[in-house]
Amino acid sequence: MDLDQLATLRTPEGSAALAAAAELAGGDPLTAASALRAAGVPPPLAAAALTQAELRHRAIGKFGPGAAGMFLTRAGLEQATRRVVADRRAERLRAAGVHTLADLGCGLGADALAAARAGIRVYGVEADPVTAAMAAANAAAAGLADLFTVECGDATAFDVTRVDGVFCDPARRTTGTGRRIFDPRAYSPPWDFVTGLAERVPRTVVKVAPGLDHSLIPPGAEAEWVGVDGDLVEAALWCGELAEVPRRATLYRQESGETRRHQLTGSGATEAPVGTVGRYLYDPDPAVVRAHLVAELADELHATLGDPSIAYLYAEHPTRTPYARCLEITDVLPFSLKRLRTLLRDRRVGRVEILKRGSALTPEQLRRDLRLTGDQAASLVLTRVAGAPTVLIGRPVD
Ligand SMILES: C[S@@+](CC[C@H](N)C(=O)[O-])C[C@H]1O[C@@H](n2cnc3c(N)ncnc32)[C@H](O)[C@@H]1O
Repeated sequence: MDLDQLATLRTPEGSAALAAAAELAGGDPLTAASALRAAGVPPPLAAAALTQAELRHRAIGKFGPGAAGMFLTRAGLEQATRRVVADRRAERLRAAGVHTLADLGCGLGADALAAARAGIRVYGVEADPVTAAMAAANAAAAGLADLFTVECGDATAFDVTRVDGVFCDPARRTTGTGRRIFDPRAYSPPWDFVTGLAERVPRTVVKVAPGLDHSLIPPGAEAEWVGVDGDLVEAALWCGELAEVPRRATLYRQESGETRRHQLTGSGATEAPVGTVGRYLYDPDPAVVRAHLVAELADELHATLGDPSIAYLYAEHPTRTPYARCLEITDVLPFSLKRLRTLLRDRRVGRVEILKRGSALTPEQLRRDLRLTGDQAASLVLTRVAGAPTVLIGRPVD
């Protein structure tokens, strides 16, 4: 997509092509292209409209129904923040007294739009001209063009004294190839610039990949890991006045048809106590594990670790929690393929889910080696207990 194609999509003819393409989204692309051409849409416009329709269709999971009016690029959509996460961040910024915000590297504008919806005046800066034009079009489509404006340029040149808060979500993919960047020092804008923002603007938030090494967390910052329905989606560094606690795990879960938010906080520096394998095993959510809040969770669940280096918790009594999956354990065996196969066959177990932490075995290989037949299901946990390779057999607790 280039700027001319985007401009054409925003004409009445383009809107009609987008509406027609939306009807065809999700079906066979060749059939959709022929249908648009048969309706008199010129081929280049048909191709651009179908790409948008496909991206909008895919974006519904991230943005909800609002995706239908957005302009998107593949790379921009992949890196964009989910609406539920962006809205919460915006609320938190607003509650902390942020009225004007710079979004340095605003991409398609998912975060900036959330801040504008929360009533914050947002100045977006985006280096890529097409992405910047799409962000501006997205602001207009959402009726937020007076609260979110975009300039195309280098975020490092933005005068941050103009605003009372800064948000930066640096690009974590290479331009061109789109390959993932794992080392924050290779982010764009550069990591030194990003972390230096906190020294210049007392209310700074930085979004980072959830794999962030804890040693890179700036001193005094709050590091938050975010999970959505069991997937670890991002981490954020809340700097200066915005830091409330050292570590936070925020989970969004679908419960009874609505999205609920749960937050576990703590120092991230406490060790969980070690005990024996109890009747119930808890497999903490990845956000809790990455935030180093397993000890805080152990405390809530009156649980202990079975091995000091493995984040499974055990307790004698079940406690309802949004922060971990719970299994009732029926058997604890030193790992032996032969013994495990015999036991599962005796119980007619034909289907297993396999969880693992601290085991070099691959679940796919084990599943093949077990050659299971039978009408029963079981959960297998491959782990270590007090250093010894162990397999636990159990079943999920609702
Ligand atoms: C991860 S994306 C932002 C996504 C955005 N927060 C959202 O949720 O839609 C990062 C963006 O920063 C832009 N970028 C990278 N370096 C930049 C720079 N020095 N100045 C301005 N924009 C930059 C990239 O083009 C990319 O669109």
